[in-house]
Amino acid sequence: MAVDLVVVGLGYVGLPLAQAASAAGLSVRGFDLNRTIVEGLNAGHSHVDDLSDDDIATMLGQGFRATTDDAVLGEADTIVICVPTPLSPDGGPDLGAVLGATRSIAKHLHRGQLVILESTTYPGTTDEDVRPILEAGGLVAGIDFNLAFSPERIDPGNPVYGMVNTPKVVGGHTAACTDRAAAFYGRFVKTVVRARGTREAEMAKLIENTYRHINIALVNEMAQFCKPLGIDVWDAINAAASKPFGFQAFFPGPGVGGHCIPIDPNYLSHRVKTLLGQPFRFVELAQEINTGMPAYVKRRIQDLLNEQGKSLKGSTVLLLGVTYKPDIADQRESPVRPLARQLLATGANVVFHDPYVQHWNIDNEHGHPADTDRVLESEADAIAAAKAADIVVLLMPHRSYDLDAIVSASVQVLDTRGRLTAANVERL
Ligand SMILES: NC(=O)c1ccc[n+]([C@@H]2O[C@H](COP(=O)([O-])OP(=O)(O)OC[C@H]3O[C@@H](n4cnc5c(N)ncnc54)[C@H](O)[C@@H]3O)[C@@H](O)[C@H]2O)c1
Repeated sequence: MAVDLVVVGLGYVGLPLAQAASAAGLSVRGFDLNRTIVEGLNAGHSHVDDLSDDDIATMLGQGFRATTDDAVLGEADTIVICVPTPLSPDGGPDLGAVLGATRSIAKHLHRGQLVILESTTYPGTTDEDVRPILEAGGLVAGIDFNLAFSPERIDPGNPVYGMVNTPKVVGGHTAACTDRAAAFYGRFVKTVVRARGTREAEMAKLIENTYRHINIALVNEMAQFCKPLGIDVWDAINAAASKPFGFQAFFPGPGVGGHCIPIDPNYLSHRVKTLLGQPFRFVELAQEINTGMPAYVKRRIQDLLNEQGKSLKGSTVLLLGVTYKPDIADQRESPVRPLARQLLATGANVVFHDPYVQHWNIDNEHGHPADTDRVLESEADAIAAAKAADIVVLLMPHRSYDLDAIVSASVQVLDTRGRLTAANVERL
């Protein structure tokens, strides 16, 4: 039996897509290699922050099913690829999952299907890496089947913008491919924006994330020199943000985290370097500044302890909030990991509290944990932990924190988010 949509990769991106399409009345299936995820979903369990078990139950009621059997790909009218695009150990793009997913699709590809890549990647991937695999069996993109790229813009935890009300960019291999992809998304997304082709659509996503990466680096560098100049950088940014045009506020922090901002710009700089032999200087500088922030935070902790006549070695440092965003459990690429490692290397007694993280592996977030990994357990009570610490470092201000009570209980607080003002609080 034919289904409207098969989503390949049922993670943070694929699952909300499957949900939005199911809710709009499309018949939807999900294909994922991870048996635990597939079985969990079919049993009604969500593994991503943005969807609850009730949401999965609703989807199952609407006919959604997940499978590890790639035969389902042959039943699809449209197939959307939402698999991860991480960095390889040498810092370059790792397209392994995209190519693997494409090979699975190629096995079952038939005339009339629409294949869309949503994974964030460098410009040229859809045309140069995905298309040849799909065409290897003799079918031709734009003639026998349709092919397009559509960047995913999902912002996990964002209560305002979701799948349906965030404009969706599409760029097809041919104009007809764009039309078909636009018509597909138009069934459950309010606004569809047509790019000239797959490369422009791929580039649009990288422009968005590179823009954020660079502007965050800009304010992170400013924070470091505003401090000795006696300027509160948050106050200055808020004042600048009163300009109603030509300025968008970005705020400093302990570094950048998540699976997009620290990673995606590298896809672009790698592409520029390998194809044109030149560096993408803005990205390289931003990378250097942002990855240097944990070391800067460590220096500030050290200085504040010195002012109390204490050394970092032997002091208890409470890290508050270790996820990369507020109010979600996702810790991917969180800059708090390198901070914790640097503090431990200097002999600090590192403790942490996070309402969303119980066991925190500070050595390994990719791959299988090793026996030698250091795993910390969250303190049970943030206020009691603050009382016992020599210094409290606010890293991720989750909504559930009673920040006033934490500040009152603390000897000294380093606020890396510009949220607090009190005599015992120092801002980054
Ligand atoms: N999470 C976000 O906020 C976000 C936002 C915008 C764009 N993106 C991009 O979307 C893509 C997916 O990200 P994500 O966060 O959803 O990843 P994820 O890790 O949450 O989920 C990916 C899923 O794909 C599955 N998978 C891997 N290889 C597969 C294969 N060959 N066949 C079938 N399934 C396979 C994995 O088992 C996993 O369940 C990435 O390119 C990412 O950069 C993510």
